Amino acid sequence: MNDMTPTREQRSAALEGMGCKRKRVEDIRFTQGKGNYVDDLKLPGMLHGDFVRSPHAHARVKSINSEEALKVPGVLAVITAETLKTVNLAWMPTLAGDVQMVLADGKVLFQNQEVAFVVATDRYAADDGINKVVVEYEALPVIVDPFKSMAPDAPVLREDLAGKTSGAHGPRKHHNHIFEWTVGDKDLTDAAFKKADVTIKELISYQRVHPCPLETCQCVCSFDKIKGELTIWGTFQAPHVIRTVVSLIAKLPEQKIHVISPDIGGGFGNKVGAYPGYICAAVASIVTGKPVKWVEDRIENLTATSFARDYHMTAEIAATKDGKVTGLRVHVLADHGAFDACADPSKWPAGFFNIVTGSYDFPVAHLTVDGIYSNKAPGGVAYRCSFRVTEAAYCIERAMDILAQRLGMDPAELRLKNFVRPEQFPYHSALGWEYDSGDYHTAMRKMMESTDYAALRKEQAEKRVAFKRGETREIMGLGVSFFTEIVGAGPSKNCDILGIAMFDSCEIRMHPTGAGIARMGTKSQGQGHETTWAQIIATEIGIPADNIMVEEGNTDTAPYGLGTYGSRSTPVAGAAIAMAARKIKAKAQMIAAYKLEVHEDDLEFDIDGFRVKGLPEKFMSMKDICWAAYNSVPPGMEPGLEAVSYYDPPNMTYPFGAYICVMTIDVDTGVYKVKRFYALDDCGTRINPMIIEGQVHGGLTEAFAIAMGQEIRYDAEGNVVTGSFMDFFMPTAVETPHWETDFTVTPSPHHPIGAKGVGESPNVGGVPAFSNAVNDAFSFLGSTHIQMPHDYWRNWTAAKNLGVLAA
Ligand code: CDP
Repeated sequence: MNDMTPTREQRSAALEGMGCKRKRVEDIRFTQGKGNYVDDLKLPGMLHGDFVRSPHAHARVKSINSEEALKVPGVLAVITAETLKTVNLAWMPTLAGDVQMVLADGKVLFQNQEVAFVVATDRYAADDGINKVVVEYEALPVIVDPFKSMAPDAPVLREDLAGKTSGAHGPRKHHNHIFEWTVGDKDLTDAAFKKADVTIKELISYQRVHPCPLETCQCVCSFDKIKGELTIWGTFQAPHVIRTVVSLIAKLPEQKIHVISPDIGGGFGNKVGAYPGYICAAVASIVTGKPVKWVEDRIENLTATSFARDYHMTAEIAATKDGKVTGLRVHVLADHGAFDACADPSKWPAGFFNIVTGSYDFPVAHLTVDGIYSNKAPGGVAYRCSFRVTEAAYCIERAMDILAQRLGMDPAELRLKNFVRPEQFPYHSALGWEYDSGDYHTAMRKMMESTDYAALRKEQAEKRVAFKRGETREIMGLGVSFFTEIVGAGPSKNCDILGIAMFDSCEIRMHPTGAGIARMGTKSQGQGHETTWAQIIATEIGIPADNIMVEEGNTDTAPYGLGTYGSRSTPVAGAAIAMAARKIKAKAQMIAAYKLEVHEDDLEFDIDGFRVKGLPEKFMSMKDICWAAYNSVPPGMEPGLEAVSYYDPPNMTYPFGAYICVMTIDVDTGVYKVKRFYALDDCGTRINPMIIEGQVHGGLTEAFAIAMGQEIRYDAEGNVVTGSFMDFFMPTAVETPHWETDFTVTPSPHHPIGAKGVGESPNVGGVPAFSNAVNDAFSFLGSTHIQMPHDYWRNWTAAKNLGVLAA
């Protein structure tokens, strides 16, 4: 070995594989403004479509007159439900087994519902046309309060369901009822509550919110009449699913549909579903023979496409007097809006809400969820969370704090007392999940030590005394949150979308020079897949990450996959990537054995190539093996070096974390200050620590936005009163707190590289940390639970209701 021979460390570092803080390769184009988004696409002769939307939340549509609109220069067509009926597309199926109007068919059911689609030569002409379409409405009574939706005299919202006593998820008990979903053992849970020393019960609401990707939903549809082919460029988190859905509902052969997701400016669940804009743009392109672009504006995005949450959770915990939990009972009233368009795996009407036992060893639990219709926009997306997991985490983390308050126990101590213990994994929860791995006590203690929790509690106690003495108007809260997520949908045994099992995929092709291309069924919306997926391959096969090009989002070239949402990419596609790489490696080993003239069992993999065991100088690099794959493979072996893997995970992964928020609130103004926010995440094996930190920062910022201000609010007539960023809280760098991040590593035992998802964790754990901080601050004044969002006005109102405002 001469001095120039790289050391093992240098060879390993040169790969920039797993564990490396590799810089994001996609940022080269993003930071130069060279991203390629849907709205950048300009095709020759392209037309623009835009919607006439309903000003009413519930009304009969008596007539639509397009005469004047068609006289506007540039307006070419006005599409209504009547037009769509001629191609059988007036209604479309939803992912949740319901149907949804594409354009208003006889009535409208929420404000800003799509009523007609105006197609014009440019966007301005389309907007002028919209203003000239005359729609005659007859207003009907409106339901915005979910608790009134199932009153005996509640207006019938879905006349199309008249007489249907059961839906996609079983019996319906009222004309505005969608489903009842029950999990757990009712009798055992009731018995635990009867025996309990202490019980708590609280209505914990998680307000309706909306993801805020910087880029709204949009598409360009181009139908080639000669070939009979439809190409759709869109902001799709799951392009293959869109292709299949379009094929099924438009009755076009799937091979003649090309779906392309170019760069996406944030998704957060908003871009999973199929929206009327996609259908109308496709129909308009088929009708006009020209490409048609549809781009939502911000108000349309906030008011009409896929809300999140709107869960009203009544949580009850039974416990012993020394704080051991013995039972959990939860009822959820789930407001799904006008159509049940929840983007959950088919069999899960409330997603994975049955993770609501959280990180605690509840011996018994019982859960019921009632889904109802209201005059609000449809949706029910996983806004930066796995399906309904953030609702569940919020519910249990608030409930545990309320129990701690009742028992006079420290919230962190109560959690430590009830955590699932390390030796209990794989842990079977009372509501049916098998948690793969965890070490909750270590994570919690690390959080408590790193933040000097005891000192913080002491400071709080002193502040409380000072407040009571009238020496300060500031109160202090410590928001502890310990969450367990369930991500990686999912095993085909329990997860599918419209019957397609939720596997994911990867295809790797190595080129002769030791470079390669890898394609996946996932689609990054900012998560950095182009960077991290190459790192997995680099470590697995010993080729530098820089030599691997990652490509996602083109259904013609990528293997079929179910897309990116709910932190499923790493648990599912990440595993497929490792498995495809291992197939490459296995073939490479056979080629190396042939070239080195040994049996393949005599070889061992050594960072970036194969070495003959015991003969260190007999080595063949992966780069050289790639070359050999194209000119001298063993007799009988096919040339080339490529592999594909479709990975059906055996289980979900269960990342977890311990968070704490330290907050002060001025009771006279309601103004809060986040003094400190510490987030410890455990996502198993860490692929790229820098990207993980970025994911945590982003997710915490969204959690902050949701807990401290976001709400899609309706007035009594069903008007959206928070439909723009003027009144829907979108934090900027000015408001966003400083984040401290930390980690522990508990690998997933069933994932090929031990990795769990992380993208959603900070939202799931962050929201309860903020809310617990506010509630903890007020608790010594006699308050039990203050509903989110905790904006200044609500904090001030809480202080007022507690009678502590200055006279
Ligand atoms: O499905 P989605 O991409 O939103 O979420 P994810 O699987 O949690 O991955 C988000 C980003 O974090 C990806 O770039 C992952 O490669 C990265 N990540 C990581 O570096 N290590 C992990 N254990 C999990 C995710």
